[in-house]
Formats: sequence, C-alpha cells, structure tokens
Amino acid sequence: MVTHRSAAKSIRWLHSHRADYYVKRAFKKHLRSRSWFKLANLQFTDSLFKPGISVVDLGSAPGGWSKYVVNKVGKNGFVIACDILPMKPIPRVYFLQGDLNDNKVIKILYNLLNNKKVQVILSDMSPNISGKSEIDIPRSIHLGELVIHICANILEVGGYLVLKIFQGEGFEKYLCCIRSLFTKVEIRKPDASRLSSREVYIVAKGYKI
Ligand SMILES: C[S@@+](CC[C@H](N)C(=O)[O-])C[C@H]1O[C@@H](n2cnc3c(N)ncnc32)[C@H](O)[C@@H]1O
Repeated sequence: MVTHRSAAKSIRWLHSHRADYYVKRAFKKHLRSRSWFKLANLQFTDSLFKPGISVVDLGSAPGGWSKYVVNKVGKNGFVIACDILPMKPIPRVYFLQGDLNDNKVIKILYNLLNNKKVQVILSDMSPNISGKSEIDIPRSIHLGELVIHICANILEVGGYLVLKIFQGEGFEKYLCCIRSLFTKVEIRKPDASRLSSREVYIVAKGYKI
C-alpha cells in the first residue's frame, strides 16, 4: 500500500533527482549554470532571440544566460549583462557590476545604451533566499517592479520581457500590471525549474509603451 508519507518521500526524491540531473548535465556541457536549460527551454517554446537583436540580461551572474544569448544574437547583435556579483568575462558581452536598486547603476546602464532601445530584457534576478515566503516573495516582487521601471526606459515598443518571479502574495497584482503593458503574456515553468521552488517565468511579448 502506498501511504501518504511514502508518496511524499518519492516525490521529494524525484525532485532532487531531477535537480541533480540538470546540475550534472550543466557540468558535462561546461555550462556556467543549470539556469541555462531554463532559457533554452523558453527559447524553444517562445522563440525569443534571433540574430542581430540587442538584449539586456539582469541578474546575469555566473553568466549561463548571457553565454546562451550571445550565441543566438550573433556578431550583429549585442548583450549587456548586469549583476551585483562579479562575472567572468564572456566575449562580446558587456558586463556591468552593480546593484540595480542603486539609481547610479541604472543610470550607467542607460548611458551604455546611449538612448537606444533594446528588443529583449531578461531578468533571472533572485533575492537572497531566507526560506520564509513572507520575506522572499515581496523581495522577488520588488525586483520585478524594478524591471518594469527599466522596461519603461529601455525596452522598444513591441519588445519582449522574460522575468523570474516567485508566486504568492502580490503575484496576481504584479501579473495584472504586466498584462496591461504587453499584448501577450504567458507563465512558464521550464523543466529545469525545481518543482519545489515558487519561481515561475513570465514571458511577455509586444511591449505597448
Ligand atoms: C539565479 S542567479 C542568475 C543566473 C543566471 N541567469 C545564469 O544563467 O547564470 C540570480 C542573480 O541575480 C542577482 N541579483 C539579485 N538581486 C540583484 C540586484 N538588485 N541587482 C543586480 N543583480 C541582482 C544575484 O546576484 C544572482 O547572481
């Protein structure tokens, strides 16, 4: 007989096994992060990148996404990456180290673009996880709000946003705001995202303003 306890144990095992699977695959493929698989999955479902476009990657360290994107946009595209933490250089990726809560850092980002708008903004930013949802979720939403502000300044009309956010209190309100700003919005949970994690990815296309 399968008891509730043993079923829960099997599910836990399955989750950790699956997580390990992506860690191992990332190691084998010499990738910088297991997050790489999440973006590859989103590219497959949502066709986000093409040669020649410009992309801003927020919360980029250690650089898995930036490396993925720079290959997709090719020599005629460009990628600007930003993180509080340092990131080892990636050819053709301009890296800005700084906290996006700091207006001075945001200003440097805008100056780098020299009034040019970008086609795609990515945010895999994650707050420092406390393990307490009443702390982690508002922090994640706060980062999401920061990204909305950045979109208003540098995302071109028709542009795309891919953003990680934690589900919970405040999520629906945030989603409503995103829906009002973009013409098409999807919620994705890529295979490589741990089922135990509250994170989901918002894929928003067709920026309106
Ligand atoms: C999950 S990691 C990103 C992984 C990355 N996408 C990759 O594939 O390598 C989240 C990152 O968000 C960054 N981050 C969190 N808050 C930030 C902030 N306020 N400004 C800049 N970066 C931030 C963290 O330092 C961390 O490196």
